[in-house]
Amino acid sequence: MDIKPFIKYVGVNDHKVDLFEGQYIVPNGMAYNSYVILDQKVAVMDTVDADFVDKWLENIDKSLDGRQPDYLIVQHMEPDHSSGIQAFADRYPAAQIVASAKAFPMMQAFFGEDFADRRVVAGDGVTLSLGERTLAFVTAPMVHWPEVILTYIPEEKVLFSADAFGKFGALDVEEEWDCEARRYYIGIVGKYGAQVQAVLKKAAALSIECICPLHGPVLTGDGIKNALEKYNIWSTYAVEDKGVTIAYASIYGHTAAAALELADMLEDAGVTVEKFDLARDDMAEAVECAFRYDRLVLAASTYNNDVFPFMRTFIDHLTARNFQSRTVAFIENGSWAPAAQKVMRAMLENCKNLSYANNNVTIKSALNDDSSAALAALAQELSAL
Ligand code: FEO
Repeated sequence: MDIKPFIKYVGVNDHKVDLFEGQYIVPNGMAYNSYVILDQKVAVMDTVDADFVDKWLENIDKSLDGRQPDYLIVQHMEPDHSSGIQAFADRYPAAQIVASAKAFPMMQAFFGEDFADRRVVAGDGVTLSLGERTLAFVTAPMVHWPEVILTYIPEEKVLFSADAFGKFGALDVEEEWDCEARRYYIGIVGKYGAQVQAVLKKAAALSIECICPLHGPVLTGDGIKNALEKYNIWSTYAVEDKGVTIAYASIYGHTAAAALELADMLEDAGVTVEKFDLARDDMAEAVECAFRYDRLVLAASTYNNDVFPFMRTFIDHLTARNFQSRTVAFIENGSWAPAAQKVMRAMLENCKNLSYANNNVTIKSALNDDSSAALAALAQELSAL
């Protein structure tokens, strides 16, 4: 597949992976993108996951048409992109390995080899001429690993963006970009908003007509505009859409019933609502929605004088990603000593700029007239925001 006449796609689609990065379900698989740039010199952009190295080497062979690669550019050392480095180095002994100074010790750690005799150290301001075209490197520390570099071809206005602007999903499945790009971003990069902002500032100085990420489709035109707008929202923790995320963790169904009744009341009031049973639904989708919308309801049973564990895990996911600047409401349940609300509030206490609803709800075992009235008051308060 040609991205441009001089850029060949040599990546792979993975439909075997059960959990990407050991935790994310990927119903539509995953793409590990890699590109070959053909100029007077030949550069290969990144490698692929260990299960696909043979297929990737085959793809490279086909794209080269008998030529030999001069460089392997390693933008990121996470194994979904770096697992083929050793195999590439063995197959093409004349090729040089180009990466940031921080990447080479990682190669030593992963492969027992740091390619000292054939390395080119890339960083801000470093360029590499391929002939007609130049590779200009830009560091992107902690987006989302410390060694990450991006690569720009000024003559063609093409940016190779490493994990940035990537998404879940293989390339042979059609799906909308935003949803799986958001779940990917919030899940994997969400903690590093400040670092993403720094990279967006660097990108703003470049004229970009084509973005080639390490996951997901190549972006052009409106796709670039949309991706930049979304990354600006996500990395500043701004509200993307008005709506309420209701996340519930229920033992026998009474807490779930209250959460779903609240959802019905809000929907009747015309509010956009997303509901998640934290024990059964995709936790990453719930986390994504908590960051997408402006209001979050946490509904949980008390358990061992604490909160039901699925809710504890969910709040840990939020705080680990700098959850902030939202309105939060609580529904707690407890048959003899409700404690869930106190625990949930304490878990959120270091989050910046949270507002709390006034009409939080305490249920003793099952909804009754009093708690139903409290639920209605909460629905009214949330729908007015
Ligand atoms: Fe796609 Fe951070 O690896």
